[in-house]
Amino acid sequence: MKNSIKKSPGLGIMLVGKRKDSQSFIHIKKKACEEVGIISEVVDLPEDCTEGEVLDVVSELNHKESVHGILVQLPLPSHLSEQNIINAVKVEKDVDGFHPVNIGNLAMMGREPLFTPCASKGCIEVLHRCGVEIMGKKAVVIGTNYRITHFLVIAETSCYSECGTCIHPEEITREADILVSDVGVPNLVRGHWLKPGVVVIDMGSTLVTDSKGSRVTGDVCYEEAILKASLITPVPGGVGPITISMLLYNTVEAAKRAYQ
Ligand code: GUN
Repeated sequence: MKNSIKKSPGLGIMLVGKRKDSQSFIHIKKKACEEVGIISEVVDLPEDCTEGEVLDVVSELNHKESVHGILVQLPLPSHLSEQNIINAVKVEKDVDGFHPVNIGNLAMMGREPLFTPCASKGCIEVLHRCGVEIMGKKAVVIGTNYRITHFLVIAETSCYSECGTCIHPEEITREADILVSDVGVPNLVRGHWLKPGVVVIDMGSTLVTDSKGSRVTGDVCYEEAILKASLITPVPGGVGPITISMLLYNTVEAAKRAYQ
């Protein structure tokens, strides 16, 4: 066939340090890429590397033609500025949707970001697919991390509160029709924090190791919450897989745009 150069989408993943949870998340992302034909390339840097070294790798990936999307696995070691590093990722390759230009456009009504954060997109998709009407509901988001779920929830709800820094978050969560938890503290959300009939999206995924071995645990005490909630996402197996599929989607979109 004439001109049949095979162009595969490419994802560059950066891991700084040896956090077990990050290694495990990257393993899952790499496997998912393989399954759909995305070429992934992981760059490992040591825990004690300098910000300059990380920025050099980001710059290399920004310039590499075969890499259409870049993911810097977070959290980074505390001596590195997540903000400086995320800002250095080329907006057109920011498949995580964390670059301030993408976040800014997402936050502005009527503007389209190039990429929407995968976890937020996954969360909204789960609600849509379960037939949960979001508009007009009171949505509460707990947690203020970089996955910025709240931006998308704000965009889709008429009433929203965030209680990441509250002393008594349960006073706010008890009013929620939809509760999204993205804190990273296992079993933080108890049954008495919930209004009967609430829809609970548990975005937490903390690697817990005890005498029974290692497993990923959510923010919500599932056994208690299931008695109150009308719908609840489990951990593992809830929003995690759909979040990964959004990453694959964003990477394919980035590749399509690069070849347009
Ligand atoms: N660490 C935990 N979740 C995420 C994510 O969605 N993106 C990145 N880059 N790091 C993460």
